[in-house]
Formats: sequence, C-alpha cells, structure tokens
Amino acid sequence: MQPVVTHHLTKIFSSGLLKRFEVRALDDVSITVHNGEIFGLLGPNGAGKTTFVRILLGITHKTSGEASLFDKPTSHYRIKEKVGFLPENHRYPMQLTGEGVLHYFGSLSGIGRFTLNKRIDELLQLVNMTKWRKMKIRKYSKGMLQRIGIAQALINDPELIFLDEPTDGVDPVGRKEIRDILKRLRDEGKTIFLNSHLLSEVEVISDRVTVLKQGKVIKSGTIDEFTTAAEEYEIQYEGDIDGELLNKIQAIDNSVRTENGIIFISAKNKETINKVLDTLRSNGIFVKSMAQRKSTLEDSFINLINDETT
Ligand SMILES: Nc1ncnc2c1ncn2[C@@H]1O[C@H](COP(=O)(O)OP(=O)(O)OP(=O)(O)O)[C@@H](O)[C@H]1O
Ligand SMILES: [Mg+2]
Repeated sequence: MQPVVTHHLTKIFSSGLLKRFEVRALDDVSITVHNGEIFGLLGPNGAGKTTFVRILLGITHKTSGEASLFDKPTSHYRIKEKVGFLPENHRYPMQLTGEGVLHYFGSLSGIGRFTLNKRIDELLQLVNMTKWRKMKIRKYSKGMLQRIGIAQALINDPELIFLDEPTDGVDPVGRKEIRDILKRLRDEGKTIFLNSHLLSEVEVISDRVTVLKQGKVIKSGTIDEFTTAAEEYEIQYEGDIDGELLNKIQAIDNSVRTENGIIFISAKNKETINKVLDTLRSNGIFVKSMAQRKSTLEDSFINLINDETT
C-alpha cells in the first residue's frame, strides 16, 4: 500500500472571459511516495507544488489522470483520517494560545477530551513548544507558529503528513529545529510529503525528491542520484600550466577544465585521475591537494531549472 500514487495527473486552470486563459498547473505528473520516507516536491514559485497537494487532499479537482492515497481514490470518504496537513501561509485565530490551537483542531477532528489532552501534551513536547503552550500565538515567532502548525497537522495521529513550505520565513535555527522534528517523525514510521522551494533544506532530510518546472516533472530520484551525477575532483596546484600541458591532460580525459587556478575533472575512474596527477607532476607541477567535490542539490537544481531544454 503506497501512501501517494499519481498517474498522469494534470490540472488546467481556466480563467477570464469565456475561460480563454489557461494555466497548465500540472502536466502529466506521475509520482509514487513510499511508506516511511520523507519525500520532497521541489520547484520554483508557480511550479505546481501546492496544486499537487491540494488535489491529493480533495481541495482542488484534477482535470485528468489518477491520484490515490493508500491505494484508494482521493475522494474516498475515510481516507482523510490517515492524513495530516500543514497548509502554506496558514493563519490561526491570533487570540488563541498554542495549546488552544491544538484543542480547537483536535475537537474538530472529533477526538475525545481525555485522548486529546494526552495527545496535546505529547505533541507540544515533540515540537518543543511545551514552554510556550499558554502564550497567545500573536506573540509567537514564525518558527514557533510553524512548530504549532506541525503539531496541529499531527493532531489526528496521521500516517501521512503533507507540509507545504514548512520552513518558509523561518530563521536558520528554527529551520534546523523543524528538520529535527521531521526526522523524529520519520523515525516513528510516518510518511512525510514536503513541498519546498528551499532546496538546501530538502537536501538534508529528504530520502527522495521530484523536481517540477511549470507543472512538469523534470527529474525524480534519490538525493544521491541528484548529487553524484555531478561528482567532480578538484586539484589545487602550484606552477604554470601552459596550453601544451593543458592539451596533454585534456587528452587523458576531456572533462578536465581549469578555473581560477584550480583543475576540475569529472571522471569517475580512479586510473584517469591518477594519470592526470602523474602528468602534472612529471611536468613540474606541484599538486597541493586533491578533493572530491559533490555538487549540492542546490547546484543540480539550478542547472535543471535553468536548462531551457527541459
Ligand atoms: N485557483 C487558481 N486559479 C488559477 N490559477 C491558479 C490557481 N491556483 C494556482 N494557479 C496557477 O497554477 C500554477 C501553479 O501554482 P502553485 O501554487 O501550485 O505553485 P507552487 O509550486 O506551489 O508555487 P509557490 O512556490 O509559489 O508556492 C501557477 O501558475 C498559479 O498561478
Ligand atoms: Mg505553493
């Protein structure tokens, strides 16, 4: 039973007089999220991330394609019992306290008072908000509001949690706290679906990611697949590399390039790297250091997004 599966999901918004203007917010999106993983849906503003989540939650209707949660169509009447949701830019009534927010949403979910009180204590602890439970949320920082939001999304003890931009506007310390909470939830066996345009965030915690651009999937895979594709070696040296020597090392591997006095090679083969080092040394170049450099998800994301052919 997979928490989320979509096949060829497409959403077209039409607007204007006679619905003449069309936006293809999702275009043939097929995604599977496995049990117990943190899945990151990435993409620049307007890529379709929120629309995707809203369709899965039954807030927006799809135009075509299929979407299911736990092998049931998203319209199935009991499916939401297993799901938690932290919307993008959420707003709670500002006069409520932190625990008041949880009481309010817990009562809406129909949880009995005894179970609810116990659950609220546990959740406040999980999101490190016990100390501020009686403070009005008006006084909360953005990070505190998001942590209460995560607790609210967990009030019905869901198996699958959708978080739409949970760290947006939160400072680095607050972001780290949120990441730690998400890891704890994964350790408890929950499945987490994360929407974000903050790539460095997703890189640290997601098991798998999909990148959307203008409604289309442009890449899916594990974080390793995204980063090792762009693996490079970096050689720092002393001495002059003239055109002749550069030609020699480029003849060993055509990925060799020099930039700001550093040599970069993206060859995966160790023998090739050694040959380049030997050639440099035998031509009087002193090799100061050699290091493996993995591109961050951010680098590969920016390359993907900027690549006009995708
Ligand atoms: N109700 C709507 N009516 C018309 N167009 C819409 C509607 N909702 C979204 N769109 C359009 O669909 C596209 C995808 O929007 P969506 O909000 O899903 O993107 P997103 O990836 O969540 O962006 P962000 O990073 O800014 O949150 C955008 O072009 C947006 O303008
Ligand atoms: Mg969005």
